[in-house]
Amino acid sequence: MWIGSAEVGSQVFTAPMAGFSDLPFRQTVLSLGNCCPEGEMVSANPGLLGSEESQLRVSFGEGAGLRIVQLLGANPAWMARAARFVEGLGAQVIDINMGCPAKKVCRTECGAALMKNEELALQVIRAVREVVRVPVTLKLRTGWDEDHKNALDIAQRAEQLGVSLITVHGRTRMQGYAGRAEYDTVKRIKRSLSIPVIANGDIDSVDKALRVMDYTAADGVMVGRGCLGDPWLPARMSAVFWGSADPGQPSPGERLRVILGHMDRHLRFYGERLGLRTFRKHLLWYLRRTEGAAPLAPPLLALSDPGTVKEKLTEFFEKAEM
Ligand SMILES: Cc1cc2nc3c(=O)[nH]c(=O)nc-3n(C[C@H](O)[C@H](O)[C@H](O)COP(=O)(O)O)c2cc1C
Repeated sequence: MWIGSAEVGSQVFTAPMAGFSDLPFRQTVLSLGNCCPEGEMVSANPGLLGSEESQLRVSFGEGAGLRIVQLLGANPAWMARAARFVEGLGAQVIDINMGCPAKKVCRTECGAALMKNEELALQVIRAVREVVRVPVTLKLRTGWDEDHKNALDIAQRAEQLGVSLITVHGRTRMQGYAGRAEYDTVKRIKRSLSIPVIANGDIDSVDKALRVMDYTAADGVMVGRGCLGDPWLPARMSAVFWGSADPGQPSPGERLRVILGHMDRHLRFYGERLGLRTFRKHLLWYLRRTEGAAPLAPPLLALSDPGTVKEKLTEFFEKAEM
């Protein structure tokens, strides 16, 4: 698959997830097989763009795949400036966020709120497209609410403006993350566009990915929460899409190897103090997805020494491997 001039080696994307899809996470996911990981959103607000947090979010590194940077903003001039800035840093694809449902984001007309103001949304797309050479993509929800599902209209107009790929999360903004994602909107958009369309929302197993691909005829899937604590999932989907057998769930020994590798990368990236604190949310997901590991969480999360965390994890997984 191609995103404009950028080749993508897989039909499986991992979702932009603020606070999760950082460089160490993307490297971990990609180390386990083929997929296309996307980074966290970055605010185009000039006051925030140069912040330390934004710099960390726009970090590129070996083994993290295509450098896709997602921008959040509703001011066309700011978005254009931010797009040029991240292109200058090495972004290979710029994704525009029109899906974030957070109140504090929508209050400033950004994220999913842009879908309520189509003219502004199109101005933002046009402004970004005009100033960068790299492909521009769009991540949408189905609309603001059940009575305003305008994703198809925006997608068609975005294609005319030269957007190279569209990802659709099958929920409205008002649904947040509740209820079930629907795929009829994705199917309709796919049918009416010639650029790649990616289906997103509740795709959390190999079987579900196959069913959604079949139902929507989408060009690929995007996996969000499904790969938290389960970074093997995207590569398993990719393998099956390529016609290979599903490699299946990892063994306890493999889980331990990957968790420790992810933790090492994370601590190197953020430093030991901040790193141990911010790795806890990943650890929680890993333990949640490991049979019998739930009781390990409270004592493990209370530890402040990475060496002891590793020892306790090793003890648990080595016992599980026997
Ligand atoms: C913790 C978290 C952070 C997220 N951050 C972003 C973000 O930065 N940009 C974005 O477009 N979507 C963001 N999303 C939405 C996901 O990209 C995705 O569209 C959504 O979770 C639905 O997919 P899923 O059901 O596979 O999780 C976030 C979701 C979660 C759970």
